[in-house]
Amino acid sequence: MNADGRTRLNQTSEWTALAKHREELGEVRLRELFAADPGRGSAYTLRVGDLYVDYSKHLVTDDTLRLLRELAAATDVFGLRDAMFRGERINTTENRAVLHTALRSPRDAVVEVDGENVVPGVHAVLDRMAAFADRVRSGEWTGHTGKRIRNVVNIGIGGSDLGPAMAYEVLRAFTDRSLTVRFVSNVDGADLHEAIRDLDPAETLFIVASKTFTTIETVTNATSARAWLLEALGDEAAVARHFVALSTNAEKVSEFGIDTANMFEFWDWVGGRYSYDSAIGLSLMIAIGPDRFREMLDGFRIVDEHFRTAPPESNVPLLLGLLGIWYGNFHDAQSHAVLPYSHYLSKFTAYLQQLDMESNGKYVGRDGREVEWQTGPVVWGTPGTNGQHAYYQLIHQGTKLIPADFIGFARPVAELSDRLKAQHDLLMANFFAQTQALAFGKTPEEVRGEGVPEELVPHKTFRGNHPTTTILAPELTPSVLGQLVALYEHKVFVQGAVWNIDSFDQWGVELGKVLAKRVEPALTEGADVPGLDPSTAALVATYRELRGR
Ligand code: F6P
Repeated sequence: MNADGRTRLNQTSEWTALAKHREELGEVRLRELFAADPGRGSAYTLRVGDLYVDYSKHLVTDDTLRLLRELAAATDVFGLRDAMFRGERINTTENRAVLHTALRSPRDAVVEVDGENVVPGVHAVLDRMAAFADRVRSGEWTGHTGKRIRNVVNIGIGGSDLGPAMAYEVLRAFTDRSLTVRFVSNVDGADLHEAIRDLDPAETLFIVASKTFTTIETVTNATSARAWLLEALGDEAAVARHFVALSTNAEKVSEFGIDTANMFEFWDWVGGRYSYDSAIGLSLMIAIGPDRFREMLDGFRIVDEHFRTAPPESNVPLLLGLLGIWYGNFHDAQSHAVLPYSHYLSKFTAYLQQLDMESNGKYVGRDGREVEWQTGPVVWGTPGTNGQHAYYQLIHQGTKLIPADFIGFARPVAELSDRLKAQHDLLMANFFAQTQALAFGKTPEEVRGEGVPEELVPHKTFRGNHPTTTILAPELTPSVLGQLVALYEHKVFVQGAVWNIDSFDQWGVELGKVLAKRVEPALTEGADVPGLDPSTAALVATYRELRGR
């Protein structure tokens, strides 16, 4: 029993029932499941918004799904969900509400934190962002010398970078192509160097994005960017026209020298990795315009409403979360691949890495005890078809079980030429072929039937039985992007709720930050760092020698 009165997850009867069911199912074959029920290909599907979700190629039966839903009920996933939507402080280790869903609520909604409705504040900031974005896009907002802003550089890291950078890439076809939009995150000076080396400072707007405004990488890069600007324009007053801030911390913003009139705020109930639909999305809004940004928020809202109201049998985030638990906890899968068949989604999986791994990469439960079950998977993947010619070999014929999500679209983006649009069917033929090959493989008999010499038969055999979810949407629009992101946000939520971990803190990133601060003087000044372990001490000494210090 837990301190909070809950039975330990792995001691619940629902968990034990799943373990027993897994044993009984043994090596269930997808070929057999489909042979037994040819209707499975359409029965095991769900729709949410524009997304058609096929989960028929999973190693599950009706019983598996029922048992998984019973586990969700026993762990009160929907109770925690309702508490989140109500604005309760479910981020217990930081004593904060978790209300990214309020960022996309309609103007007339009421969402209260400590008795205060937060929705008017959300829309007030969205309106300010829209007015500012319009001024930049129209050329009304000029730089210090009166030149039009042609370049926007977002400086931020983690949630203050990955979301807008990903979404900018995804929605490139909807962006104002006359603007250059870049994202700088790494404290490696090369990142900022490459982002600004060919830009005219007089035409460049820096957006400093940081929830805390204390993140060393962001503050360092922003300071260097300011120096670059001032070197060219030679007047402190230029900062006001070339720097805006996105933050929860007005005090630090003005300490840095940015007028809080040029700050777009958000709130401590928005987690960094859940924040790109807040003020953190300003660079994106400038690129695609306020209307498209609002369409994206509408997309988020469709899936929020679905997650909040759909019954367990048809609740897509619940289903995807539970399938991940089935593989991670009952098949020992260690990773989860997300494989989008759209080049525009090239940064989508990197974005999901933070969303999922920073949320659920934890071995301590909400009750302060170490868990005795696997938590978040390693999330990875890049767009098809590129991955097919690189690492898919391991998914098809390696020794590891890698559940994967395939995301594809019926129509290419409108902007492509007819010739390039025609390539879309080839892209999607690969999309469908891969999940088919992964699920059903190729038997030795089939290989022999092709006249393959006997010694090569084992090499050319595909065991199959690799589980995949297929997500198909009509077209990659701002709304569909919002739907996809909300889908994964809530999937991660479901898993954290079942595992009984706090998906909204990130204490695991702190130690490295503290140690970096301690080591830095040893690198720059040769200072003695007390307590440095022998390996690190030798590495630091070698570094200094190679650096010529
Ligand atoms: O160090 C991790 C982290 O706190 C992330 O959770 C966050 O998204 C990122 O750093 C950036 O934080 P900030 O927006 O406060 O600069």
